[in-house]
Amino acid sequence: MPVGLGSGFKKSRRAVAATASIFCILFLVLLFSSACAKRKERPASEIAGRGRPIFASNCSFCHGLDGRGGEHAPNIASDPTVRQLSDAELFGIVEHGIPASGMPSFESLGVPRIGAVVRYLRVLQGQHAFATLPGNPHRGRQLFFGKAACSTCHRVLGKGGFIGPDLSTYTRTHSLREVRQAIVSPNKNLGPQQDIVIAVTRQGQRYAGIARNEDNFSLQLQTPDGAFHLLMKSDLSSLRHEPRSLMPSNYGTRLSSRDLDDMVSFLAKASEAPPKVRVLFVGPH
Ligand code: HEC
Ligand code: HEC
Repeated sequence: MPVGLGSGFKKSRRAVAATASIFCILFLVLLFSSACAKRKERPASEIAGRGRPIFASNCSFCHGLDGRGGEHAPNIASDPTVRQLSDAELFGIVEHGIPASGMPSFESLGVPRIGAVVRYLRVLQGQHAFATLPGNPHRGRQLFFGKAACSTCHRVLGKGGFIGPDLSTYTRTHSLREVRQAIVSPNKNLGPQQDIVIAVTRQGQRYAGIARNEDNFSLQLQTPDGAFHLLMKSDLSSLRHEPRSLMPSNYGTRLSSRDLDDMVSFLAKASEAPPKVRVLFVGPH
């Protein structure tokens, strides 16, 4: 029966078309979910890293760079009631603000940037303070002041050298992964004025260190012993900037993976120290 056959044929064509489009949709769904999965795989620390500059330019004026409060706004880093807020609640506060009390709305930042700022706020709150630290902070301390000699350049809780930044609170504003990164690849995020400056005077005296101040006529150089030297450019026979960090770049091989875990744990633990302990440590050593 030609009619029946024809409609059957049409039906089967329709069926084929339907199956094809179902497969098409399935394929798209798979593609989409794998894209989503990829997005989920993005480490939280990376998102938090994107939140740092957003926090610095939008929040730090009132809450301080480390979120511990300032003249204009309360501590949102270590205040227990703020710590207990869920991510969604924090998101809501940032998005809508608290108009009655001077906390502005940041709706204009948009969802991804508010999300990044909330993740970063979690770093400031020291989420890793609750997580189990990857290593042994006591061993890390011994390394810091001993074999690894970090303390020749860095201070922690009032003890150590001066040429490098004080690391007492570094882990408050950086994830543990970033701290590890900073130790093994010091040249990666070298900021301006952190490169090595080598100056030789006409008398042949050589200084190598970090330029703390430089203008057309003079240079204030800090050498690794912490001493400052004010040099007049007219007295110099040569002046050279080397675009690398003063910090040794071989800690990735000098220290084992366990050493690095211990070091990161020591720094994380130190930044949790209450201020009282900090005062106790201050003094000549
Ligand atoms: C102009 C100053 C100002 C700026 C800028 C600001 N805040 Fe606030 N923020 C406040 C004040 C004031 C409060 C206190 C509100 C209260 O206690 O009711 C507050 C409170 C908060 C709270 C805690 C609310 C609570 O429940 O105690 C969070 C979280 C917060 N701000 C996050 C942020 C973030 C994130 C940014 C940047 C995107 C930001 N703030 C920028 C002034 C500011
Ligand atoms: C010879 C001096 C020197 C030694 C030794 C040294 N550092 Fe550094 N470090 C620096 C200087 C200078 C900087 C500043 C940024 C730069 O030049 O890279 C720095 C930066 C850092 C930073 C990033 C801080 C910031 O504010 O950006 C961390 C973290 C750090 N060092 C940890 C360590 C640890 C841990 C050790 C020991 C394993 C160590 N450093 C050994 C000189 C040193």
